[in-house]
Amino acid sequence: MSNDDHNQSEDTYNKGGFYAFLFSMGFSLLFFVYIAFVHPGVDLKEIPESEMQAEQTLAEGGEAEAEPAKKVDVSNVKEPWLTSEDLVAHGATVYKTNCAICHGDKGLGDGMAGKGLNPPPRNLVEGGWKNGGSRIALYETLQKGLEGTSMAAFGHLPKVDRWALVHWIQSVSKDVTPDEDSKVAAFAKGAE
Ligand code: HEC
Repeated sequence: MSNDDHNQSEDTYNKGGFYAFLFSMGFSLLFFVYIAFVHPGVDLKEIPESEMQAEQTLAEGGEAEAEPAKKVDVSNVKEPWLTSEDLVAHGATVYKTNCAICHGDKGLGDGMAGKGLNPPPRNLVEGGWKNGGSRIALYETLQKGLEGTSMAAFGHLPKVDRWALVHWIQSVSKDVTPDEDSKVAAFAKGAE
């Protein structure tokens, strides 16, 4: 009788241990399944991939936007000192290639290469020109650059590109000085 009692209590004890073991194994398995398949932080690839996709979409969007501007044909423009939608669009493209790095994508003077320059690149929207905001003055700035600053001359650009830049600047700037078409025409014919 006392022997039976002993056996039974030993049995009960062992069963308890076995269940505890089963429980901990089961819990470990569940935990593993959760970490491997459910927990979102474990998939390290997920975040950079989605970021890359977003950047790609942005880049594609940017190209798609610039595309129509590139297609503008200004080679037949006879009087490039007179503004037009085509010239402004062409100017935007030339600006992106040559100027945005300093003056910023929108002309706010916040381009990457402008950081640390003294004086900093001008905010073309605000203006406050040294040479002036008329077509002639802006064209001359592009011809000669600005002495004592990092603003170089852009006389190597085709004339039509420089006029297109002038029209683009005037299209975004709050600081525009009108000048007479006949005066600008006379200037343009004598200008390099
Ligand atoms: C290397 C950087 C850099 C690049 C590239 C650059 N600029 Fe500038 N730009 C400057 C700096 C610096 C100034 C001087 C700002 C000042 O004097 O306060 C300036 C000034 C100007 C001004 C003001 C002129 C005035 O009368 O005050 C205009 C307009 C201008 N830039 C247009 C352009 C255009 C258009 C392009 C592209 C063809 C261009 N810049 C490319 C740095 C740059």
